[in-house]
Amino acid sequence: MDIRIFKNEAEIGKAAGQLFCDAVKENPSCVLGLATGATPVPTYNYMVEEYKAGNVSFKDITTFNLDEYCDLPKEHKNSYYSFMFENLFSKIDVNADNVNFLDGNTDDPEAESARYAEAIASKGGIDVQLLGIGRNGHIGFNEPDAELERFTHLVELTPDTIEANSRFFASEAEVPKHALTMGIHSVFKARKILLLASGKNKAAAINALVKSNITTACPATLLCLHPDVTVICDEDAYSLV
Ligand code: GLP
Repeated sequence: MDIRIFKNEAEIGKAAGQLFCDAVKENPSCVLGLATGATPVPTYNYMVEEYKAGNVSFKDITTFNLDEYCDLPKEHKNSYYSFMFENLFSKIDVNADNVNFLDGNTDDPEAESARYAEAIASKGGIDVQLLGIGRNGHIGFNEPDAELERFTHLVELTPDTIEANSRFFASEAEVPKHALTMGIHSVFKARKILLLASGKNKAAAINALVKSNITTACPATLLCLHPDVTVICDEDAYSLV
C-alpha cells in the first residue's frame, strides 16, 4: 500500500485529481470507478479545472459509480446520480451515455447487481477505482459485519452511517435506510484503487486501515490484500497512525 500524506484537503484534491488526469491522458478511453461524499469534491474540482484549462479531455472515458441510495428518486438532490452531475459530469466533456449508476429504485436488486457486473465486464473492467472511507471503516456501503458480501448487493445502512450522512439531508429521518453497493470483490477487480481520507473524523479508520489486523469489522483493512492501492490522506486523517 502506497500511503501519501498531504497538508489539507485541497492538496489531496490536487494529487488525486492529477492522478486521474494522468490516467486519462495515458488512456483516453479508460474506465473510472467513482465515489461520492464530501472527500472527493476537491479531486473533482481539480479535474474540472484541468479540463477547463484545456489540459485534458474526458470525452472517451466510461465511469461506474460505486453505490447509490435506495428509494430516492435519481433526480433528488441527494442521490449519488445528482451528486455526480452537480460536482463533475455537468462540468466536463464526459459523454452522458458512458456514465453508469446502480438503479437504487429497482425492485430486483439481484438482477440489477448482475446487470452492473456485466456492464463493467463489457468495458474491460475498471482501471482506477476511487474510494472514500466511512468513519467506521466502510468502503462504498460495505458496512462492518461478521461477513462481507463479495458482489454488488442491497445493504441496510448502519445507524452510524445514517447519522454521518444526515448532514446532507434536512433531518436524519430523511436519510435512506438502504443502498445498493458494489461488493468487496467487485471493488477488488479494479486494476488500481485510490482511497482518499481527510479530517480528524477519519483518523480511527485510517489508523485501522494502516495498522490493525485484517477484519471484516473494518472493511477497509481488506485493502492491504489488493496489489495496487494508493492512500492519499491529510495530516488530520493520519494523526492516530
Ligand atoms: C458514504 C459513501 C462512501 C463514502 C463515505 C464517506 O457512506 N457511500 O462511499 O466513502 O460516505 O463520505 P465523506 O467523504 O462525506 O466522509
